[in-house]
Amino acid sequence: MKNIVVLVSGGGTNLQALIDAQHRGEIKAGKITCVISSNPNAYAITRAEQNGIDTEVIRRKDFKTFDEYDAALTQLLQSKNADVIVLAGFMTILGKQVIRAFENRIINIHPALIPSFCGEGYYGLRVHEEALKKGVKVTGATAHFVNEICDGGPIILQKAVEIKTGDTPEVLQKRVMEQAEWKILPKAVALFCEDKIKVSGNITEIIS
Ligand code: GAR
Repeated sequence: MKNIVVLVSGGGTNLQALIDAQHRGEIKAGKITCVISSNPNAYAITRAEQNGIDTEVIRRKDFKTFDEYDAALTQLLQSKNADVIVLAGFMTILGKQVIRAFENRIINIHPALIPSFCGEGYYGLRVHEEALKKGVKVTGATAHFVNEICDGGPIILQKAVEIKTGDTPEVLQKRVMEQAEWKILPKAVALFCEDKIKVSGNITEIIS
């Protein structure tokens, strides 16, 4: 059984999707053992507590330098025996130490079809605002491994979502979450836990 540690910052609907998938028995070879938040007031913490999951808070601003924060987060994850780390709406950039310590073991959910609308500054609602501004007709979500390039790691799963006339960023965000993020993130985590994702360089292959 792999230990799944989920990193959050906000509402935690992706965390909820993972918890629900676990309850439905869809994550057969893993268990959510800890939720770590960058924000002590995140509703995601309440979701974890309601499900009896251990919680921790680590804030960038409590450390003098970014390197100290990076080292502390790495240590915290090691102390939790994390086998896989899931960034479920985690809004603090990860440092080199943690990324190297957990190479190809950190999974992020991004609310667009990478390589569109991604990279530094593209997070949360902003991603959907930019997609609407550009006028694309299809967007979606991407589950990918994290490497040192922002949103540049190996892609695991993607799902497309239609953009409709009159969409606002909020309406589009909700549709992308419901139709894509909440489906592909638990699926990617389940596949990882079953050792079904083979990574060669920047390319992944799902072993059936
Ligand atoms: C989600 O839409 C997630 O894809 C996005 O933040 C939201 C968090 O919602 N993440 C990013 O933009 C990361 N670049 P949640 O807290 O309800 O899961």
